[in-house]
Amino acid sequence: MNEKMKVLIVDDERVVREGCHRVLTGKGYDALMAENGQEAMNILAGKGADIILLDLKMPVMSGEEVLEKTQSLYPDIPVIIITGHGTIDSAVDCMKKGAYDFITKPFQVDQFLMTVNRAAEKRLLEIKARQFQRENIRNLYDLNLEKSRLKTIINCMANGVMVTNRNLEVVLHNPALMRLLEVREPMENPFDVSRIVRDNGLLSMLEGIQKGSAAEQAVISQEIGAGKNALRAVSAPVFDPDGDVVGTVTVLEDITAFKELDEMKSDFVSMVAHELRSPLSAIRQQNSVLYEGLAGPLEGKQKELLERGIQKIDQLLELINNLLDISRIEAGKAVQRKIPLDLGPIIRDAVSLMEAKAREHGIKLLCSFQDLKPLQADAEGIREVISNLITNAINYSPEGGKVSISARGLGEYLELVVEDTGVGIPEEELPKIFDKFYRVKHPKTRKVMGTGLGLAIVKGIVDAHQGTISVESVPEEGTRFRILLPLISSDR
Ligand SMILES: Nc1ncnc2c1ncn2[C@@H]1O[C@H](COP(=O)(O)OP(=O)(O)OP(=O)(O)O)[C@@H](O)[C@H]1O
Ligand SMILES: [Mg+2]
Repeated sequence: MNEKMKVLIVDDERVVREGCHRVLTGKGYDALMAENGQEAMNILAGKGADIILLDLKMPVMSGEEVLEKTQSLYPDIPVIIITGHGTIDSAVDCMKKGAYDFITKPFQVDQFLMTVNRAAEKRLLEIKARQFQRENIRNLYDLNLEKSRLKTIINCMANGVMVTNRNLEVVLHNPALMRLLEVREPMENPFDVSRIVRDNGLLSMLEGIQKGSAAEQAVISQEIGAGKNALRAVSAPVFDPDGDVVGTVTVLEDITAFKELDEMKSDFVSMVAHELRSPLSAIRQQNSVLYEGLAGPLEGKQKELLERGIQKIDQLLELINNLLDISRIEAGKAVQRKIPLDLGPIIRDAVSLMEAKAREHGIKLLCSFQDLKPLQADAEGIREVISNLITNAINYSPEGGKVSISARGLGEYLELVVEDTGVGIPEEELPKIFDKFYRVKHPKTRKVMGTGLGLAIVKGIVDAHQGTISVESVPEEGTRFRILLPLISSDR
């Protein structure tokens, strides 16, 4: 406390009053004086005091009477009784009535100060305790307010919120969650998460996060279905201060309307692409007839122009085919015929189809197999994956490069790797290359024609086989795409 302690001296003897006043102010106290009980009560009501020094024998109002009044009005202020030798009994009586201590007149300065100091300490402790208590109450109040505010916010959110504990029991959820998951009956926390989440993908993701296996990835996002709703679930682990996973938080967003719009867009693109493909193919065919000279001989310049036209038409047809592939993949219709397949011959065919292109670019194509086992797959899809990866490897490698394709059985998976010694991809671009229409800007590959759909198609096909694709790359050294396809894929 920075303020001085206020000591009120109540004594009818001026000498005593002033003596005490001198000693106390000399020791840093703020001393106030009253010569009778009434005056003392007035000061207490006005300025107040921290300690009272009270003479028992006074006119107007006796010390006992003042003590009684202060005890009932100001029970926290310690009262020290000043008493003569002959009246120790009454001082003891006063102690019984609640006085803090007494001193006998005439008193020694040391003893007097010790008594006052003790009373001051007691008073200070009490003030501090009171302050602490007040703060505590305020903190509890704030906490409660904060809690109810949070609860209101979570309950009003349009997104579903779900928090689970170590045992994958729901410990917090909001009305939006129940609405999005189409759960009608009210649930009492905690309850098993599988009682409201039916989607196996989300359930196993939450299990993975809880076990810590998926936790390195801070946030995991996936699309799930619930009744007629399409939802995006974004899940993250909850850590305790030691860094252990103690639960999960999932936020659900309704993306039904977005999905519908996306479907309409895909339908539109695929319709337009279809409408363009037939006339373009017809034009391509007629131009070929002209180019071959089957409709009459052509001169050098005419032939050259026609050739360039045909090349452009081929690029357009390629784009249209890619667009059709993508919209088929997005509609979930990309991989429809999965049959037991031996990948060896398929890969070998796909590679030999690329050999001419590789030679044209001065690139060596290598191919190797090991422990191949049959798997359930769509042959057309796998061919597309391989030809896209090899085309990229050739397109984005300088002359004299090497492209190797290898396939091998790896436990429950088939591993397919396409590796090149090309220009590579900067690390910050890697997460984006599987996006539709994304192309890396690189001075050496500026002339390579493309639409940025190839890898999106590859990823779509791999996903439809419940496989995974990953990429590693060192700029100016090369790139390595690795695909893992589960050997028993369809009924997983
Ligand atoms: N092997 C590779 N080496 C270096 N960069 C690559 C490699 N493969 C892909 N890329 C980069 O990733 C981008 C996306 O590849 P993607 O196959 O999706 O599209 P694209 O080849 O540009 O066009 P297309 O739709 O005709 O395939 C490429 O533009 C290229 O910048
Ligand atoms: Mg490509």
